[in-house]
Amino acid sequence: MVFENNRECYHCDGNHPELLNSFVENLSVAGVGGDDDPELVAFWDRCEAAGLPSRLVMDPNGQYRMTRIPLFRNAVSYTMNGKPAVKRRLDSTDEENIGALLYFNYPSTWNHFLGDHALSFRVLPLGAGETLVTTKWLVPADAVEGEDYDLETLTKVWLATNDQDRQLVEETFRGVSSPSYVPGPFSDLAENGVCQFVDWYCETMRQKLQNQK
Ligand SMILES: [Fe+2]
Repeated sequence: MVFENNRECYHCDGNHPELLNSFVENLSVAGVGGDDDPELVAFWDRCEAAGLPSRLVMDPNGQYRMTRIPLFRNAVSYTMNGKPAVKRRLDSTDEENIGALLYFNYPSTWNHFLGDHALSFRVLPLGAGETLVTTKWLVPADAVEGEDYDLETLTKVWLATNDQDRQLVEETFRGVSSPSYVPGPFSDLAENGVCQFVDWYCETMRQKLQNQK
């Protein structure tokens, strides 16, 4: 459920005011598409010309996927004003706006790589009804706290977003745990990423169980 929540931003508009200053879900890459969006293609071309791989790379089985997305308007980092949280650069290009490189590896991690810092999320199930999510903010090795960045600016957006997502997942878990719960269909458009994750999960479980016979 933590990953299902992560793989869609259907819920973002109503729940993530801090994140929406910089992040905008790109439905073209939420699933497996993207080549039909001219603005996205132009963004990828610009980043790749600067030496930054950007187009979707996906495991044939769907377990991992990596793609670069542009951020909202002129934002270059996940901060309240969209400006960098760290004065030093994480990458070695002169391109100021490289968006966010997203890397998912099911079922345990998702990551965002920005121009000034990176975010790593680990998902560790502790039991059927409890999951530990650990977030790490990675800054350039020579960045000095207090000089090149301050923790509040760096962490504010995702501390808030994580807490909002925690509440959403906990409430959804309560809902699906009800004896009267009946699953509904996913939206092929807005929840395409969830469909892709669930397909991978079901196929992986089916194969593992078959191998145990
Ligand atoms: Fe969320």
